[in-house]
Amino acid sequence: MTIDLTKEIQRRRTFAIISHPDAGKTTLTEKLLLYGGAIHLAGSVKARKAQRHAVSDWMEIEKQRGISVTSSVLQFDYNGYRINILDTPGHEDFSEDTYRTLMAVDSAVMLIDAAKGVEAQTKKLFKVCKQRGIPIFTFVNKLDRHGKSAFELMEEIEKVLGIQAYPMNWPIGVDGNYQGVYNRQLAQIELFQNDGSHGQWVMPSVIGSVDDPAFTEIIGKDIHQALCDDIALLDMAGETFDIKRVLRGELTPMFFGSAMTNFGVRPFLEEFLRLAPPPTPRLSTAGPVEPDNELFSAFVFKIQANMNPAHRDRLAFIRICSGKFTRGMSVYHVRSGKTLKLTQPQQFLAQDRSIIEEAYPGDIVGLFDPGIFSIGDTLVAEGHTLAFEDFPVFPPERFARVQAKDTMKRKQFVKGVTQLAQEGAVQVFRQLDAGFESFIIGAVGQLQFEVLQYRLKHEYGVELMFQPLPYELARWLEAEDIDLKTLRGMDRSMLVRDGRERPVALFTNEWSLRFVEEHNPKVRFLPAPPDA
Ligand code: G4P
Repeated sequence: MTIDLTKEIQRRRTFAIISHPDAGKTTLTEKLLLYGGAIHLAGSVKARKAQRHAVSDWMEIEKQRGISVTSSVLQFDYNGYRINILDTPGHEDFSEDTYRTLMAVDSAVMLIDAAKGVEAQTKKLFKVCKQRGIPIFTFVNKLDRHGKSAFELMEEIEKVLGIQAYPMNWPIGVDGNYQGVYNRQLAQIELFQNDGSHGQWVMPSVIGSVDDPAFTEIIGKDIHQALCDDIALLDMAGETFDIKRVLRGELTPMFFGSAMTNFGVRPFLEEFLRLAPPPTPRLSTAGPVEPDNELFSAFVFKIQANMNPAHRDRLAFIRICSGKFTRGMSVYHVRSGKTLKLTQPQQFLAQDRSIIEEAYPGDIVGLFDPGIFSIGDTLVAEGHTLAFEDFPVFPPERFARVQAKDTMKRKQFVKGVTQLAQEGAVQVFRQLDAGFESFIIGAVGQLQFEVLQYRLKHEYGVELMFQPLPYELARWLEAEDIDLKTLRGMDRSMLVRDGRERPVALFTNEWSLRFVEEHNPKVRFLPAPPDA
């Protein structure tokens, strides 16, 4: 292993911010970029919303709706660290895409609205991180206005999520008017000076020992005393800090701040970078792959088409797992058995793409996709082979039959639907014995259907006929030599094939699934493909 490679790995931090919509993820992302010097003036969120445009918004539909539909990737440097933020869509309908993004990170920042506490979407995303053992750091946001108390929030995280929380800092002041944070490890106070800029610039602050009487004077004796009491209570009754437990996902370091005013953003960023893990090993068919293994390896976790309508291109996003990536290198695409030359790798800062010359484990690189890549594909150095662990498949819960309104547009229709399925935007099924005139589309949420309709119209010029179907469950069939036509009790169900021709049954509810299971005891009905 070369010193160069180790050094590059050690300084990388690749993470996602998980939260419920409106908790302030876009704002925090923007502020991290501001502190990293990647942007110089944070547009206040108001201005952003007015323009319907944020640094991480790419697609037209996102701008129109003001929601983030696709995950984007942002890279910047701070204090010698190379940071990769994988933005995840906040809307609950896009959880599938979010889950896949979480496969590519080494840690997650859980953003919580101080007034609302732990919300539904946060719970779901937390669960995925927990299952995967991803270390989770908590940032309690919106401290500039009234919210639950810091103790209440700690308790809520522990009770609702079942993870212990360790406050790394503690807010100083009274609810709705906090003045600073107390750093527990250094026993230091940091007071922020609100300069009235609404967080457009880096916020000035003064730092010093908690015992410095100057601070007592500024914050007042009562607040100083209350702070000392809180800290004594935390030290006595709270968890002890144990980085090993953090890295195992059992303890979440907790920070307080306001992404809008920048209060607490810098202390959070610095501490987070210090504690969060550098790129971690990934499981593969050849055992764990260590990042400092000199053989290059990566996997595709996201495919996105037509990010720039002017180019009509399709990008596959890979996460580098080991070795060094250099522009123009040849790699082996394990699933197809082909060798590919990677000539135009791209890196991202929102809409600015730049060609990169080299990249290291933890980095995300966008590759032009001639239609060869699928989610979960492995790329390795020439002459080697292995496959990274399979991506979880999320069984769709809503179904609809779609076909092109204009039958002359059949070719574009098939191309559009196929490409969006490869991107993982929706899941596509075909009715048994049916041709390509219509498809059965499966989605986790309603918004995915809307995106499908929107994108087919705007990117492929195809208007859809759209017929919602009454099914809610998909089950992959497993049986030896099964003749699908002999399945019994299927009157209320539908048999289809997935994109890889595997048989799938769609059911209206659990009851009808059980009925069919009972009538076909030799068949197993699985919530995911048998070979997934
Ligand atoms: P999201 O990406 O998680 O969905 O959230 P986003 O950053 O878009 O923020 C959602 C709302 O929360 C925005 O207000 C934003 O200004 C506000 N917000 C974010 N961070 C803070 C904070 O630290 N304190 C306070 N008080 N508010 C915060 P909005 O009303 O939806 O938009 P706008 O009226 O500000 O344009």
